[in-house]
Order: sequence, then C-alpha cells, then structure tokens
Amino acid sequence: MNFCVLTLFPHLIEAGLGESIFARARQKGLIALQTVDIRDYTSDPHRRVDDYTYGGGAGMLMQAQPVYDAWKEAVGSFEKKPRTIYVTPQGRVFDQKLARNLAQEENLVILCGHYEGIDERVLDEIVTDRISIGDYVLTGGELAAMVIMDAVARLVPGVLHNEESAQTESFDNDLLEYPQYTRPEHWHDKEVPQVLLTGDHKKISAWRLEQSKERTRNVRPDLYARYEERQNVIAWLSRKKKHHIHMMELLKRGLGEVLCFHPLDGALLLEKGGAVMLTCTDTAAGERLLDRCPVDLSGRLFCVCLREIIPVLYERYHLTEARGCYQAYYTQGVPLTVPKDFNIRRLDVSFAEEIFAEYHELVTLEELKERLKARAMYGAFVTSEQGEEKLAGFIGTHSEGALGMLQVRPQYRGHGIGAALESFLINQALTRGEIPFGHIFEGNEASLRLQKKLKLNVTDVVLWWVS
Ligand code: ADE
Repeated sequence: MNFCVLTLFPHLIEAGLGESIFARARQKGLIALQTVDIRDYTSDPHRRVDDYTYGGGAGMLMQAQPVYDAWKEAVGSFEKKPRTIYVTPQGRVFDQKLARNLAQEENLVILCGHYEGIDERVLDEIVTDRISIGDYVLTGGELAAMVIMDAVARLVPGVLHNEESAQTESFDNDLLEYPQYTRPEHWHDKEVPQVLLTGDHKKISAWRLEQSKERTRNVRPDLYARYEERQNVIAWLSRKKKHHIHMMELLKRGLGEVLCFHPLDGALLLEKGGAVMLTCTDTAAGERLLDRCPVDLSGRLFCVCLREIIPVLYERYHLTEARGCYQAYYTQGVPLTVPKDFNIRRLDVSFAEEIFAEYHELVTLEELKERLKARAMYGAFVTSEQGEEKLAGFIGTHSEGALGMLQVRPQYRGHGIGAALESFLINQALTRGEIPFGHIFEGNEASLRLQKKLKLNVTDVVLWWVS
C-alpha cells in the first residue's frame, strides 16, 4: 500500500507517523509513505499558495494551480490514476467499512487543505473521495489524513502481528469490544472478573459477548440496532440451517451485510468480496427482495438457495451460467487429526503463478493474488529425496468464508494431502469459534468423498452460484 500526502506541512505527517506500528510497517516495506509539499509547486515568486475568496468572506483559500501541479507530479509515478481523497468536514464520515474499502487499494493520494479550504475547480478535477473524520472542524487536514492512514494501514495484511486482531474487533459485528484486563489480579481494590480466571473458554466468550452488548446498548444505540437486525436475520436463517450455513457464517463473522430482509420473503446479503447471497421463499418473494434492494446488483456474482430464481437473475442482470453446489459443513466441534508427514504453512503472493498453473478454471489470477495477500491460502510441502521442498497441494478460504480452492498435484495424490490440508483449515476455523463449511460443485465426486471421509455433513444440491 502506497500513501502519498499532498500537504503544506510534510513534517507534521512524518512526525505523526514516524513511530510505532506504522513506522515498523514502513521499514518492513508493507506500506510506503511519500509526502509532497504543495508550496514547492507554487508559481508565485513569494511562495504564496493562497488568495482571497471571490464573493468575499473571511479567510483565504488555497489556489488551484499549486495543488494541481503537486498532484500531477505525484500521480505521474503511478501506473493508473489513483484514488485521491480530499479530507474535509464536508465529506462522507469515515468509518471501519470505508477503512476496509480503502485498504483494498494499491495507491492512495490524500490531499490536505488549510485556511478556508481549496478552490473548488481543482477539487472537481482531481478528487475521487471527500472524507471527513467527524462532525467537528480542525485547523487543517493533516490530522485527518493521519487518522485515515493509521486505520487503513493496520488492515494491510502483515502490519499487525496478531492475525486475528484486525478481523475480530469493534465495529465489524456492530458491537464494541468488551473490557480487557492484565496483571496484577488485584489493583486499587479492584479485581479481575472471576470468569476470566476460570480457563473455561465457552463461559469467557459468553461473558465477553454480554459485556460487548451492554456497552454497545449504552453508548451506541445506533450500532446496537444494527446488531439486533443482524441477529434477527441469523435467527430466521437458522430455521433452515443446512441450506443457510454460508449466509449465517457470513453474518456471524462480519464478512457481509444485510441488504434486504423480510421474514415472509427471505434475505439478501452482500459479501465484502462483492458477491450477493439470496434466499427466498419463492420467486415472487425473491423478486420483491431484489426490487427493494438499495444498491445496484448488476455485474455481481450471486449465490442463491432457490433454483427457480435463476432465470429471474439471468433476465435482470444478464447472467448466463449457474452451477449447483452441495453444502458441506462441520458441526462436531472436535478438532481433526492433521498428519505430521507434510509441512503445512501459509503461502504468500509469490506462489500466485504456481497455483494458477494448477487451478484456473474457477478463479482469475487477480482473485488468487487477492486471497494470497489476505493470507487466506495454505500449502502442503513435501521434501524430495534430493532434499528439495515441493508444493504438493494447496487450499484456501474464499472471501465469503467458504473453504475451497483445494488441489493436490497429480503426482502427490493418494497420500492424504487433501485431507490433511482441509483438516488443518477446519481446525483453524474451530479455534475462532466458526462453523467450517464449503461448497462442492455437482459432479465433483473426489471432493464429496473427502467431505464424507472427514465426517462433514453434506446436503443435497441446495445452492447455485450464478455468474
Ligand atoms: N479538515 C478540517 N476538519 C476536518 C474533519 N473533521 N475531517 C476531515 N478533514 C478536516
């Protein structure tokens, strides 16, 4: 992730982000930060960058020319025109969802204003997003730019040491985080809550959830209302659990949002990777949900639970292909045995081409790279007689949470590598309290056999991916 900040105070940015996690991520090359001093681009002999406002009014305005020239110089180094954010109290209010969206970008340019703002004409020409960090006015945009960069940087894979912490935290599930404690056990006559000392993880999780709910209810009733809506949808989906595991897990894990829900019609969800999930009682109900959906769904991939709705999607969104899937899921909760014969470890993006050479029918190279960057893919390695390590097979988690992309190279088949890889990922999911699940395309007999061998429940064909 490359940040480029256009500012009159580059030292402020360098000082503000020069220590701690952001600085370490910079040293490791996970993020880059470049500052551009707008004043270096003024054509004014006295290095002025501001002037009076046409029509009168208090204060000065930054002029278009130096801002434009600074931006032009900065974006010249990028292959394609990057997203350019203007930080301003007149923008969309920044939140965790927007942070996640921005974290997908390779390059971000942030423009900081001063004085009364910037000439509107240059903003119209270069800015793609106007973002405010809250309903108050700062003296300039630098602090806002730093807030945005900090929140985005910590979502870049590898920036945080603890993999989990960027995934399960305040806001993703519309709940604020629960209170936490460290040593000593007694401090200022205050004790650490007893339950946290029991070692009983079920009880601890239940206590933490209650604390989160209470906090959210008290200080953020708006968030709590969203949480309750989500819980309602999960409860509705659980009435046909086997069909809906994928949608329930999507909502429980904070990987998607509810676009539309009606207890008599069904639910329409949007997954963070962009796919749409639909379940409906009949075609008319499905059509009503699609009609009421607040966002345009054209060009999206759909996952639906009713075969009869497929022609409706073909017609509405010009889709042309549907593939039926069995749903496999593991509810035993007991970790599976992973044989130690293979070295299983996470794959980085340098494996993209090697994997794509084996596995390209269902994904694009770009999608594979995205999954690798998200640290969602694992490989099993075997050591050859010459002592060389070879990638024998791989597996991953799709953006909507399903296990998949499992492939064992032909020469390594028949040794239990597929089972080892899937068991490994299932165990990881269990430690996070998730129900591991996957979709198996109709006709994939080898995968069906594997699911049964690992004791997963397998449904009939109950869902269709429509593209
Ligand atoms: N510049 C001044 N105030 C701001 C705010 N609240 N958000 C973003 N940029 C700003």
